Amino acid sequence: MTKVLKADSNGVAHAAMLLRAGALVAFGTETVYGLGGDATNANAVAAIFHAKGRPRFNPLICHYPDADGAFRHVVEDARARRVADMFWPGPLTLIMPRRPDCPVSLLASAGLSTLAVRVPCHTVATSLLTATGRPVAAPSANLSGQVSPTLAAHVLEELAGRIAAVLDSGPCCVGVESTVLDLSGPTPFLLRPGGITLETLQACLGTVVRRGIEAGTKNSNTETGLSSPGLLASHYAPRLPVRVNAVDVADNEVLLAFGPPPPGGKQRFQLSAAGDIVEAAARLFEGLRWLDAEGIRLGARQIAVMPIPDNGLGLAINDRLQRAAAPRASPPVPDPAD
Ligand code: TXA
Ligand code: MG
Repeated sequence: MTKVLKADSNGVAHAAMLLRAGALVAFGTETVYGLGGDATNANAVAAIFHAKGRPRFNPLICHYPDADGAFRHVVEDARARRVADMFWPGPLTLIMPRRPDCPVSLLASAGLSTLAVRVPCHTVATSLLTATGRPVAAPSANLSGQVSPTLAAHVLEELAGRIAAVLDSGPCCVGVESTVLDLSGPTPFLLRPGGITLETLQACLGTVVRRGIEAGTKNSNTETGLSSPGLLASHYAPRLPVRVNAVDVADNEVLLAFGPPPPGGKQRFQLSAAGDIVEAAARLFEGLRWLDAEGIRLGARQIAVMPIPDNGLGLAINDRLQRAAAPRASPPVPDPAD
């Protein structure tokens, strides 16, 4: 049963307790309701994707009570400080490089080396984030493919029974999602229009390039060159080739295991010994990165991946593995709206 919590001090304290325990809590912001989970807890982040029924891992926005909190987890620069001073708290999300010691789970940023950070302008959300004391990952609190919710009742229509609670702070005043600005490289890119307009950002930063406007130019700052929401071809690909649906493992391979592994191989990472798909999702990016580094260190030629059931979160895991296994220079596949 999903609890409906009042947005008073008891409700906020209860919601924070649930978040700290790894449960999911939807909460209002000035833009839309977010489906929150402790961003430092990979199982909680996997549960967010599970609850949304999303067939792909899209990176999530981490929410903080203030700019100092946000900048503790990313590499800040003068441009980021300038926009933060001007627009935070408010409907603006910044994409910035993760700090090496960033405690946010790799799943929250879908394996990328960047992180989306945002400081919402909403007293209840701020109290919740302060009481939780951890970054809260929160996509819009709707099922995949549905419209974003601006009332607690909308959240319940789609997510009742799938999340622990919703903190009911009434209607959201902006009603559209935050603007997403990529500041992870030299050119600022507008990845998603939203509450703060392109013109306003240009007045603050000078050049801001809207994704896709300048044909033929590299249109994002992340490693793939295609980080824009909706065009995420491959967020993260290991350096070693990947072989999926492997039922055996060769001597020159390392193994990403799911359940009881076949014998052999140079090294192995177990996604879930019990064959639990949510646990496997929580460990996927950590496992791929570790196995890739280990494989290269040990002179392996390839990563073999055991079959993962193609239902529930298994869809998102297989989507990611198939992209990792595909020929590298493949064209982007359009992503359905989240
Ligand atoms: O207003 C909002 O932003 C709401 C409230 C709840 O804060 N949240 C929201 O989250 O709309 P979501 O997950 O529905 O949208 C996040 C967007 C996605 O388009 C995602 O691709 C992009 O931000 N994003 C997140 N991290 C990214 C990253 N590291 N690089 C590029 N894009 C990123
Ligand atoms: Mg959304």
